Amino acid sequence: MTQVHNNKSLKSILGITLMTAALGLTACSTPNPDVKARQDMMKSYGDAMGVMGDMVKAPDTFDAAVVKEQAAFLAEDSKNPWSHFEDQEAVGNATEAVWSNTDDFRTKSENFQQATAELNNAAQTATSVEDFKPAFVAVGKSCKSCHNDYQVKKED
Ligand code: HEC
Repeated sequence: MTQVHNNKSLKSILGITLMTAALGLTACSTPNPDVKARQDMMKSYGDAMGVMGDMVKAPDTFDAAVVKEQAAFLAEDSKNPWSHFEDQEAVGNATEAVWSNTDDFRTKSENFQQATAELNNAAQTATSVEDFKPAFVAVGKSCKSCHNDYQVKKED
């Protein structure tokens, strides 16, 4: 009787250990390289937009060299994230619409490349915040219009 009881406990203990190990693996496994690559790029977009946005909020801090650099970076990098959205298994915080609504997603990524090119054009000759603000606002709208449909909403 005692023997049976012990076996049963051992099994359930093993079961729990195995389950914990499996959960631990999921939580600690290295992120999918596509997800990581595109999230890193997006993060750097957030940084670039933050730098320029601070200037838009405080126009007397306008720094032509910084605006040129940030805008050129965005325009240059704007073509890079999209190849990292090809693998449907690499979900990350993308909504499934990325893979069910591919034409619209592609259009939005192309509009974004266009908007960042226009911002870069404006930035290269800007002598004040006013000179790049409209193009900056347009890029911000482009980010948002894509996130509305294709980035999983955060609980905030
Ligand atoms: C065409 C679509 C699209 C455009 C344009 C776009 N994003 Fe994203 N962005 C996404 C998607 C999809 C995700 C979720 C990616 C994931 O988690 O796998 C994302 C995620 C992010 C994240 C979170 C990254 C992380 O660490 O998880 C930030 C920050 C971000 N975007 C900033 C921007 C900014 C700033 C712009 C504009 C300058 C921009 N994005 C333009 C689609 C877009």
